[in-house]
Amino acid sequence: MNICCIGAGYVGGPTMAMIANKCPDIAVTVVDLNEERIRAWNSDVLPIHEPGLNEIVAQRRGENLFFDTEIDANIRKSDILFICVGTPTKTFGLGAGRAADLRYIESCARRIASVAEGNKIVVEKSTIPVRTANSIQRILKAGNPDLKFDVLSNPEFLAEGTAIPDLLEPDRVLIGGESEEAVETLASIYARWVPRDRVLTTNLWSSELSKLTANAFLAQRISSINAISALCEATNAEVDEVAHAIGMDSRIGPKFLKASVGFGGSCFQKDILNLVYLCEHYGLNEAAEYWEQVVKINNYQKRRFSSRIVETMFNTVAKKKIAIWGFAFKKDTDDTRESAAITVCQDLLGEQAHLSIYDPQVSKGRILEDLGVEESEEVEICQSAEEAASGAHAIVILTEWDEFKEQDFEKLHATMPKPAFLFDGRNLVNLTEMRAIGFEAWGVGQGSPPAV
Ligand code: NAD
Ligand code: UGA
Repeated sequence: MNICCIGAGYVGGPTMAMIANKCPDIAVTVVDLNEERIRAWNSDVLPIHEPGLNEIVAQRRGENLFFDTEIDANIRKSDILFICVGTPTKTFGLGAGRAADLRYIESCARRIASVAEGNKIVVEKSTIPVRTANSIQRILKAGNPDLKFDVLSNPEFLAEGTAIPDLLEPDRVLIGGESEEAVETLASIYARWVPRDRVLTTNLWSSELSKLTANAFLAQRISSINAISALCEATNAEVDEVAHAIGMDSRIGPKFLKASVGFGGSCFQKDILNLVYLCEHYGLNEAAEYWEQVVKINNYQKRRFSSRIVETMFNTVAKKKIAIWGFAFKKDTDDTRESAAITVCQDLLGEQAHLSIYDPQVSKGRILEDLGVEESEEVEICQSAEEAASGAHAIVILTEWDEFKEQDFEKLHATMPKPAFLFDGRNLVNLTEMRAIGFEAWGVGQGSPPAV
C-alpha cells in the first residue's frame, strides 16, 4: 500500500512519521509545495522542533518514509491521500476574520481530481468547517467522474510539543465516512498500534464537528480559569489553588486548568472563530456569541497582563530594558503562531520599552518577523535567559520552558536596577521565593506582593 500526505507541516510530518514507524510495509510519502521545508525534512535539521521526532524520522526516512516535492506522481501511485494543509482564518471578503480559508484544501482536491488515474481514499486531516467533505467530494467527482473517491474525515488531536506521545497513545482516533470499506481500510492502519476500542467511527459531519468542538472545549477551559484568575487577583485568592480544588472533582478533572497569559497556537482561536462563523451561518446567534466570548476573554487576558506590567512599573516602561523569557506559544515547540508573547511584546514596544528577548527554540528571524521589526536598540535577541535579564528592569516569563525555573535568580537580581520586577505569565516560579530574593514579583491570578 502507498500513502501520500499533502502538507509537510506540524501535523503532516509527525503523523506520517508515526504511520511509517508502525507500518513498515506501507510506503508513506509526504509532499509539499514548499521546497525549503521538504529539503529540511530530508536533512539533519528538521523544519519543526518536536521531542522524539528526530529519532523516528532517522529510523524510517529512506526506508518507507519519504519527503518529496513531486506531488502529482505521488498522488497517482497512492491508494490513500491525506490532505494536511493549513486552514487559516480568512482575512478578506465574506466571513473575514472568522471563516476558514479553504483555498489550500480546494486546490488539493482539484489537483487530486486532475491527476488521479485510479480510485482513491481521500482523508481530510486538516481541521475544516463541518460539511467540507461534501465540497471535496463534489470537486473530485466533477473533475474526474470516471473514478471512485471515498472521502473520509480523520481529524488530528495531537498537541505540539507532545506530538509523538500523543500519536503513539492517542485518547482516540476518529474516522468519519460513508463507505464502510474505506473507513475499515483506514481504521486497520491505526489498529496496528492503537487499541481497537479507541478507533471511533462516526458519520462524516459528526467527525468534522467533533474536531472543532474539542478545540473549543479545551480553549473554553483555559478562558474559564483565566477569567477566574482576574477575580483571584482582585480578592487575593490563588488561582492554582482554586484550579486544584475544582479539578479534584472528577466531573471537572484537573487538566487544562492552568491559568496563563493567554492561550496561543495556530488552532484554538481560528477553530473557535470558525465555529462562531458556522453558528452565525445557521442563524444561531446566541450560540455564536457564547463561543466568541472564549476568544474575547483570551484577548482580555493578554492585554490585562501587558497593562499589569506597565502600571506596576510606575506607569512607564519607556526606554526601560525588559527581559522577555520565552516567545513560543508553549514549551517544547518552536511554533510562535498566535503566541501571547507577540501581543505582550507589541504592547510593550508600543510603550517604548526596550526588549531583550530569549527563547531556546525560536529563531531570531522568526521573532523579528512576528514583531514586524528589525533588530535595533529597542529589540535585542539574546542567546540565553541570563543575557536577556542582565541589567533589566524586569523579567517577564511568557513561555513555560523548564530552563527558566533553574536560573540563578539571586545573581540576576543583583544586576538589575531596583525595584527589580518579575512578571510570571505562566506561574512557573515560586513567587514567595522570588520575593524573598528581593523581586517585586507578580504571577497570574496570585495575590499582590506585600506593599513596601
Ligand atoms: P502547517 O502550516 O505547518 O503545514 C501546512 C503545509 O501545507 C505547509 O507546509 C504548506 O506549504 C503546505 N501546502 C499548502 N497547500 C499545499 C498544496 N496545495 N500542496 C502541497 N502542500 C501544500 O500547518 P499544520 O500546523 O500542520 O496544520 C495543518 C492542519 O492541521 C490545519 O488545518 C490545522 O488546523 C490542523 N491541525 C494542526 C495541529 C497542530 O498542532 N499544528 C493539530 C491538529 C490539527
Ligand atoms: C491544541 C489541542 O490541545 C490539540 O488537541 C489540537 O489537536 C491542537 O490544538 C490543534 O488542533 O491544533 P496545541 O495548540 O498544540 O494543541 O497545544 P495546547 O497544549 O493545547 O496549548 C494551547 C495553548 O493553551 C498554549 O498557548 C498553552 O500554553 C495554553 N494552555 C494550555 C494554557 O494556557 N493553560 C492550560 O491549562 C493548557
